[in-house]
Amino acid sequence: HWSAEEKQLITSVWGKVNVCSWDGLLIVYPWTQRFFDNFGNLSSPTAIIGNPKVRAHGKKVLSSFGEAVKNLDNIKNTYARLSELHCDKLHVDPENFRLLGDILIIVLASHFARDFTPACQFAWQKLVNVVAHALARKYH
Ligand code: HEM
Repeated sequence: HWSAEEKQLITSVWGKVNVCSWDGLLIVYPWTQRFFDNFGNLSSPTAIIGNPKVRAHGKKVLSSFGEAVKNLDNIKNTYARLSELHCDKLHVDPENFRLLGDILIIVLASHFARDFTPACQFAWQKLVNVVAHALARKYH
């Protein structure tokens, strides 16, 4: 459950996320490579950043994350289908959702620097926790 201030902090930061922020997110892939063996060359950070499939997938994931931002009060239902996909079909260990959330926060904090206040950090931490929980729901 979100306060008006938390909602505002989340949507204002999200509105400013752009392609630069996506680049940072790609570093997530070194430890998730085994899920993406059909993505081609992921042998080095340069290869990963230059890999068009990785880039396309990063955009997909981030725009899906945007659905959570748009549906803050209904995140569980928003991710019901994706939870099934990641749990039942892809067998992604739910720990990875938490790790991806942490990385997203690090990227946002380094990107927005002083605008990423403690209150903002708190609201985002809460959001990535709720998203991770919603995506892992089918395991529970
Ligand atoms: C596919 C969202 C985290 C592994 C997808 C798709 C979306 C998505 C929208 C495409 C689904 C479709 O084509 O119908 C998300 C969100 C995440 C998240 C919102 C967290 C905020 C992760 C993590 C991993 C992962 C942490 C693995 C470490 C995959 C894989 C696919 C996929 C392997 C299929 C890729 C392919 O072969 O095209 N995800 N994802 N996801 N996701 Fe996630």
